[in-house]
Amino acid sequence: MSVLKITGGCSLSGSLRVQGAKNSVLPLLAASVLTEGLSVFRNCPRLSDAEATVRILRHVGCRVYGEGDALYVDASGPIRPEVPDALMRQMRSSVIFLGALLSRCGEVSLSLPGGCELGPRPVDLHLLALRSLGAEVIEAGDRICCRAGALKGGRIDLPFASVGATENAMLAAVRAAGSTVISGAAREPEIRDLQDYLRACGALVSGAGSGTIRIVGVEKLRGAEKRILPDRIAAATWLAACASAGGRIRLYDACPAHMLPVLRALERMGCAVKTGENLIVLERTGPLKSPGPIITRPHPGFPTDAQPPLMAAALRARGTTVMIETVFENRFRHVPALRSMGADIRTAGRTAIIRGVEGLHGAEVRASDLRGGAALAVAALGAEGETLLRGMEHVERGYEDMAGALTALGADARLCEEE
Ligand code: EPU
Repeated sequence: MSVLKITGGCSLSGSLRVQGAKNSVLPLLAASVLTEGLSVFRNCPRLSDAEATVRILRHVGCRVYGEGDALYVDASGPIRPEVPDALMRQMRSSVIFLGALLSRCGEVSLSLPGGCELGPRPVDLHLLALRSLGAEVIEAGDRICCRAGALKGGRIDLPFASVGATENAMLAAVRAAGSTVISGAAREPEIRDLQDYLRACGALVSGAGSGTIRIVGVEKLRGAEKRILPDRIAAATWLAACASAGGRIRLYDACPAHMLPVLRALERMGCAVKTGENLIVLERTGPLKSPGPIITRPHPGFPTDAQPPLMAAALRARGTTVMIETVFENRFRHVPALRSMGADIRTAGRTAIIRGVEGLHGAEVRASDLRGGAALAVAALGAEGETLLRGMEHVERGYEDMAGALTALGADARLCEEE
């Protein structure tokens, strides 16, 4: 088991390339089974969740190989419409194979997905989307079987802008007969990335980025080439790290337009933020102040995934910061570990109240989920002394070499093996 050792208290400086987005590469890889050809994905981050997706692709019959930061997926052979439990349980985004395999094979059988425990994560909206296109859905325990023969385009009204349900709806609709309108669609940049890929494959999709996506089904899709967009949550994490530790960092291959609520919050905390094309520079010299209330919302609101790292940056900010989590029911699991580092945080339901403290101290802590683990690393950088962060398997699901990234930014961070 690996442990991240961080000695805090020194300011950050340096440049870092932002990795490709986890939440884009995973649905894109799943989408590639829809095509009867070869797809090439560039700027792929090396993540355990991406490896898990590749294992599913190979199981269903795709040939997959990597070269540098590119992944090649050849889905031209026969595809098996079934994913075993053990592969499904490795991550949440395996649920995107539901729409992808149904669309490709006319049937699919898989079990409920795994992923971070952030509260209940039902799949009712995914199933609603598939039923709206004529799929017959049978749920037996943890197993879901869908059959459609031929999917038929229709109206899909999502009562909540679920990212995954929007992705499944798009994948099922691109090869359904006739037109589909998805209303109440998620507007995240990753949805736009999926649309761009599907279009390159020959699909007729428009509207991604707005709440209404329109699709006209086509019979076949070809493989295509796609560059994965920059990871806005990884970028937010490095910016929060610099806010926590102080100093000046420069992130390149970033997309500032995708993360405006995070940049504005960091400015309100007293950081100087400059943006350019694919570039973000953040400098924090003076003391931090509270950013005011932070309420997480679907895009273009403040992203739930950036809430834990920003909370960690706010621990020493002057004043009181209120954070309200509206997307997930249980996204404060990092709070007890932050308290053990000297933080003053009270939680009640989906609200956290953070009172700025003078200083934090290093501690032995464990990540309980991906972004919660990132929050502990951010807090450790602003704390005096050494922090030992365990549970790195959660962090490695979404951050490519966190120790290397932090070291490039001048931090004292090392990944060690523990007996
Ligand atoms: N929901 C339902 N029913 C459904 C689907 C979702 O009630 O059928 C609820 C969920 O329980 C949750 C809320 O809707 O409370 C949001 O879920 P959504 O479906 O939008 O999220 P997701 O597709 O499961 C993706 C990201 C998450 C990110 C969320 C919100 C991927 C692989 N995951 O999850 O990323 O937090 O959107 O932006 O794209 C992370 O990167 O750490 C992470 C958790």
